[in-house]
Amino acid sequence: MRSLDDFAYSKLAELERASLRRTLAESFRGEGPWIERDGRRLLSFSCNDYLNLSNHPALKSAATAAIAQYGVGAGASRLVTGNHPLFRELEERLARLKGTEAACVFGSGYLTNAGIVPALAGAPDLILIDELAHACLWAGTQLSRARTLVFRHNDVSHAKALLTENRSRVRAALLVTDGVFSMDGDLAPLPELGALCATFDTWLMTDDAHGLGVIGNGRGSAFAGGLSGQVPLQMGTLSKAIGGYGGYLCASRPVIDLMKTRARTLIYSTALPPAMAAAAIAALTIIESEPELTAKPLAKARAFTRRVGLPEAQSPIVPLVVGEPEAALQASNKLAEEGFLVTPIRPPTVPQGTARLRFAFTAMHPDEEIARLAHAVRALIEFTPARKELPTCPQSS
Ligand SMILES: Cc1ncc(COP(=O)(O)O)c(C=O)c1O
Repeated sequence: MRSLDDFAYSKLAELERASLRRTLAESFRGEGPWIERDGRRLLSFSCNDYLNLSNHPALKSAATAAIAQYGVGAGASRLVTGNHPLFRELEERLARLKGTEAACVFGSGYLTNAGIVPALAGAPDLILIDELAHACLWAGTQLSRARTLVFRHNDVSHAKALLTENRSRVRAALLVTDGVFSMDGDLAPLPELGALCATFDTWLMTDDAHGLGVIGNGRGSAFAGGLSGQVPLQMGTLSKAIGGYGGYLCASRPVIDLMKTRARTLIYSTALPPAMAAAAIAALTIIESEPELTAKPLAKARAFTRRVGLPEAQSPIVPLVVGEPEAALQASNKLAEEGFLVTPIRPPTVPQGTARLRFAFTAMHPDEEIARLAHAVRALIEFTPARKELPTCPQSS
């Protein structure tokens, strides 16, 4: 249809002019953090496979054995005939690691957030959300139709002010935040948020996509810095440190039972392929038994921030904010010339004016390559004429 294609062309042209058009580049990932793209071998700092488990022999053989036994697809929603026996085992293992009574596995992290938030809050309720929360927490929040208030990034006083003014006017209240922020790498102030939520009878939910396997002895952000896991709703994904695909919620038994009967993305979507559950179980065994492995990504990120002179990394994710999308593209191209893949991150993934390079460190990144990367990044920073006016950490307003 003419008008439809015209619409698409003009949208694309608009995005192109703003350096915001995205394209898909075919990438071949083998073992470790290297990637082949356009015939070149690059060392990738843009993959969330923090423990390099996606190619681990134990995960591959668990997945292939599950395919041999159960087939490739789950065949139906979990509530119909897709609830393969491996899901129970995976849920028990996740709940054990996270210190909760129970867990529920979903098709992906995005589907998890899109399902659980509307199952917990509706029109008469209130959701408080960190302004830098991940897109799928926003999606779940919007689907819920609850009254939504945004608090400044990691600003507990602002969240408190909003609760003080609004808590008594609503039925239930839910506060949602990333545990580890996906584009900034910083951690949510969970003890303070937990205390605030207890005072205002508000349910605290974390998206721990980037915490599981790499923070808090592998148990995630609720356990970082000696915390004891007191977050009642811990959501996460099986697609990052776990090396596979799928999402989960860890919570109390009644909450999980409610999800299994009310979360629309669980009920109306085909279950995760059973092979992904098998691979995730194998990954959890590695995470539980190899604390030295789970400590590596953060240690490598810290070696990098030390060498570059950036604030100490709090997680394996390190941002370098450069400002405009064009500058992020140029910086990324410059690093590619040195053999590094660091995908530029641009709005709307991050706020306007904070386009950035996002470095994700994995257990298998060689130390000497991190030193070489740090050298290249220092040169980039020195080369950027306006660097003194540019933010190096997230803007919170
Ligand atoms: C913070 C955060 N939450 C959720 C997701 C979605 O997880 P998934 O990729 O499993 O859909 C991602 C990743 O893309 C993420 O970074």
